[in-house]
Amino acid sequence: MAIFGALKPKPMKKIAVFTSGGDSPGMNACIRAAVRTGIYKGLDVFGIYRGYEGMIEGDIKRLHSHSVSNIIQRGGTVLKSARSMEFKTPEGRKKAFENLSAHGIEGLVAIGGDGTFTGAKVFYEEFGIPTVGCPGTIDNDIYGTDYTIGFDTAVNTALEAIDKIRDTAAAHDRIFFIEVMGRDAGFIAVESGIGGGAEFVMVPETQTDLDAVVKSLKKLRKTKTSSIIVVAEGDDLGSADVIMKLVKEKIQDPSKEFKVTTLGHIQRGGNPTARDRVLGSRCGMAAVEGLLSGKTNCMAGIMNEQVVYTPFADCIGLPKPLNPDHLALIDILSI
Ligand code: F6P
Repeated sequence: MAIFGALKPKPMKKIAVFTSGGDSPGMNACIRAAVRTGIYKGLDVFGIYRGYEGMIEGDIKRLHSHSVSNIIQRGGTVLKSARSMEFKTPEGRKKAFENLSAHGIEGLVAIGGDGTFTGAKVFYEEFGIPTVGCPGTIDNDIYGTDYTIGFDTAVNTALEAIDKIRDTAAAHDRIFFIEVMGRDAGFIAVESGIGGGAEFVMVPETQTDLDAVVKSLKKLRKTKTSSIIVVAEGDDLGSADVIMKLVKEKIQDPSKEFKVTTLGHIQRGGNPTARDRVLGSRCGMAAVEGLLSGKTNCMAGIMNEQVVYTPFADCIGLPKPLNPDHLALIDILSI
């Protein structure tokens, strides 16, 4: 018997969702959306616990609609997360593939940042299991989406802290250096700096000119008695502590007190903002719809309010620059 035309691909019946890398508020909303969209479309949905680690160890469980009840408002990730070294090895990825095959899993929703997508890309290229990602990281450093899930909450957490520090900075006429997260990107620093009325924001994307900072601080001292300087953890001059010491040395004013606060992991937790819940929900649904329409090796993001699918290679390979208008705004408003 002759067969004409291409064979129709077998419809997908089983998918799995996992979170990997640094957790971010809104990941739970994304998990919930992926699980419920999958069930709505008639799929069996599985959860893989602890990201790629759980995939290698076979920590995989069937999820139901009620499995994701009462999680949309919670920070962290109910599927837990990890940074897996073993998945970076061919042997680790082979074990992961065998575990997925044993469960009959035919598609994956990978929620995470650039490390997660780097792993997903290699895994897809080796084993061909269709995978669509969702941008889950507080850093907002992923190309192919205006914002990442968790960024808005992290910025608001940093802002709340900056507001509180400002009270005590003003009361004691002190200069505070506040270090925020973001790895190699300055998005959290810029947005929390603008919102918190910082005098300076130091980011990895621009070269920090120490002399200019010192000059401005000296000038500002005539009009302001306290200052807030937001430092992104990846700044080229170093940590907030290092920068504070450099500035203090150059200012040479024993009457001035300098303090450092590192916000750290507080920025990763907490109830997601409405924006992160909506973004997580939209990306989770778009990932499953993408899988069902044949998309793979790409991320579902939101750009200009529209769902956009961007190849993993671009998400991790293309730069996402800071908005130069935001940097100009800080300079102008800090006079
Ligand atoms: O990528 C998210 C992030 O919170 C970065 O901002 C930070 O540099 C890093 O993760 C911290 O990672 P860990 O929690 O593994 O120390």
